[in-house]
Amino acid sequence: MHNNYYMPTRVVSGAGSLRNIPAHAREVGLSRALVVTDPVIARQHYYRQAVDALEAEGVAIVRFEDCEVDARVTQIDAQAQVLRDARLDGVICIGGGSVMCAGKGIAIAAANGRSIRDCTGAGNFSRRALPMIMVPTTAGSGSEVSQWTVVKDDEHHAKLVCGGPLSFPDLAILDPVTLESLPIHVAAATGIDALTHALEAYTSSLGAPITDALALDAVKLLSASLRRAVCAAHDVEARSACMIASSMANMACGNARLGHAHTLSLPLESLLDMPHPLGVGVLMPHALAFNLVVLPGKARQLVEALGVRGVASLADSDVIAGCVSALRSLYRDVGFPQSWNESQLPRAQVRAMAERAVPGLYAGSEGLTKTFAGITGDATIVCPAPRKMSVREAEGIYAACLA
Ligand SMILES: [Fe+2]
Repeated sequence: MHNNYYMPTRVVSGAGSLRNIPAHAREVGLSRALVVTDPVIARQHYYRQAVDALEAEGVAIVRFEDCEVDARVTQIDAQAQVLRDARLDGVICIGGGSVMCAGKGIAIAAANGRSIRDCTGAGNFSRRALPMIMVPTTAGSGSEVSQWTVVKDDEHHAKLVCGGPLSFPDLAILDPVTLESLPIHVAAATGIDALTHALEAYTSSLGAPITDALALDAVKLLSASLRRAVCAAHDVEARSACMIASSMANMACGNARLGHAHTLSLPLESLLDMPHPLGVGVLMPHALAFNLVVLPGKARQLVEALGVRGVASLADSDVIAGCVSALRSLYRDVGFPQSWNESQLPRAQVRAMAERAVPGLYAGSEGLTKTFAGITGDATIVCPAPRKMSVREAEGIYAACLA
């Protein structure tokens, strides 16, 4: 089997790196840019400084500061039109996963002259996205180094994944100054999302030595730093480590792709408005235990990366249990939930969610027209995880996630 690793995004990191954004804008060919953010980030001092610096250095900007939680098809299409009408060169995104996904969607839709909905799926557009600079303000989504964007299609109650080799950002600027004002619960939730990216990449059947190394080191960094990063906002070292780890995790999962936690979370996010980190985070210990059964060697590497010592003499099943309990203890320490309640996932919806998960994460708008009638409990959920999961097994995992 031949492996292919591709991640062309330049990554600039370190305290103060955001100050050089005007020079970076010119380097990637942005003399007229759409700046994308949300109302919370628009009030932050580092955002105002960055925008002021861009204007002072002659980069003409149009602002879109109303990005909603979750990148929305309607907002993306409208802003792509703004970008085209104003003949802007590309986008500068300063924000979390929703902002970066929205900006990436705008850059794809504007370059391809059609709705982002029609570009969804894997590699479903032909023109290179417009130049993009990404400045993450959480250590979580990893969208800054990812070809993928996740967009919410309110008309069809669906979340759609979109991307391909033509939609990598040109530049990511990782400056921990953006994490100073991050609320504790957001730092915890986004950090757990980053950890799931690393765990799912490391256990993917599409993994390779390069993605394994990035993913395993991201697990080590996050499990060693997330507690401090969440509990002490002024711990710049810990928050910087989480930021780098979040990018590394996505450099891994961008190529190795994501597994059952993300695949089973998608219908909950699409149809029940489950927040992404809550969906994937609660599913992760169950998805990990399910898949590690067929990866005993990797389970041993993982349990050590999660900080458990003295595992050499343990049986394989104890190693898997060790991974799960290390994960759960991290959740407890950072105040992240271990389960959902019935208002988040009504028990009567469990079977329907398992059926909706069948097309997998990367089906794009094709999944919108799929009929779910006649799906049996034996049907397999499309996913690059190493172990096949049936609809019936997915039902069991959803039920186990309910408190
Ligand atoms: Fe995620």
